[in-house]
Amino acid sequence: MIYKTFLRPVLDRLDSETWHHNVKELMHLCEFSGLTLRLLEFAASGGARVRDKRLGVTVAGVPFENPLIVGAGWDKTARAVRALYSLGFAGVEVGSVVERPQGGNPKPRQFMVTPEVCLNSLGLNSPGMDAVFRNLARYGRLDMPVGVNLGINSDTSHEDAPRAYAAVARKFRDNAAYFAINVSSPNTPGLRRLQDRGRLEAIIRAVRESLRDSERPLFVKISPDLATEAIDDVVGVVIDCGISGVIATNTTDSNSVKGKYGTRWEGLRGGISGNDFEYKSLSASIISHIYRTTDGQVEIIGVGGVCDTASALEKLRAGAKALQIVTGLRGEGLSVANSINRGLLGFMDENGIGSLSEITGSGHG
Ligand SMILES: Cc1cc2nc3c(=O)[nH]c(=O)nc-3n(C[C@H](O)[C@H](O)[C@H](O)COP(=O)(O)O)c2cc1C
Repeated sequence: MIYKTFLRPVLDRLDSETWHHNVKELMHLCEFSGLTLRLLEFAASGGARVRDKRLGVTVAGVPFENPLIVGAGWDKTARAVRALYSLGFAGVEVGSVVERPQGGNPKPRQFMVTPEVCLNSLGLNSPGMDAVFRNLARYGRLDMPVGVNLGINSDTSHEDAPRAYAAVARKFRDNAAYFAINVSSPNTPGLRRLQDRGRLEAIIRAVRESLRDSERPLFVKISPDLATEAIDDVVGVVIDCGISGVIATNTTDSNSVKGKYGTRWEGLRGGISGNDFEYKSLSASIISHIYRTTDGQVEIIGVGGVCDTASALEKLRAGAKALQIVTGLRGEGLSVANSINRGLLGFMDENGIGSLSEITGSGHG
């Protein structure tokens, strides 16, 4: 309430990428001591982070304290992982991480179209895998699973892509709880063509080879702009290769979604995320399609506009086991995870539900 009334209108006037960076660095500073982390936890919850055994989920063998994970793009560099846990999240997906440092696309490249909807064309900016690895290693033991989202440099050819993804995976082989292959960012030219069956198979084979013996779960992150047959192809590859599942979905570059917000955004490069009804429904319908066509055999992490209990329930019912949030942190503020977790517990109480797994896929009757 205080955030939306007083703080958010100020942020709305400032450059989105700069403020995102500043907030992340402030949170990094909070990791300085146990006391500052406790203060952050208090600010995000009014007391202590929401903890309840009924919220626990296990995704591809990885146990999460609750279903909420910070999605790729919020902490690309593993600078605020412990602070994000204090906000009530049960996991963080760091990245996308690429092999060599790269600056990304020219600025400005991150805009709040509304206070709850973002358009970004960052272009996988990253300090490179060595720097991110050092940041993550500095934490030592963490209380929660950290996933690593694998990307490639923009000058990597399609032929070299399997090796490049595998190089990043190898680097984090012993530090990551799971890996996500990002073949769906709209801001790196040609990247989404790597969702084609043959190319994707080659990437998965190379990444698996680099993870040999570590047996970390592997996910493919897909675009919401794929045609149904292309989604079926990706899911077919996931099943044929025997990897864990999909993360659905990345941002959309649909012009009909952008156009709704006025001519300034129409035709502008970049992907839309956050609390847009059409985008939220699109990603939920993709989750639902994958769950239905695979009889729930593929693990699904749902992402795209999760910002409150209703949007979280929509994706769980569609078939997601866990959820990710990026733009919701900006739209709703630091309390977003605790507020959704409280809402989920309230829903479970009202409906006599004992565990979250009873909700996953329940929308299919
Ligand atoms: C500023 C920003 C940066 C992002 N960077 C990445 C990225 O590096 N890799 C990736 O796979 N997804 C990235 N994403 C996509 C998110 O992980 C997520 O799929 C998408 O934003 C939808 O979730 P949301 O509506 O909760 O934001 C980014 C999103 C935003 C808003």
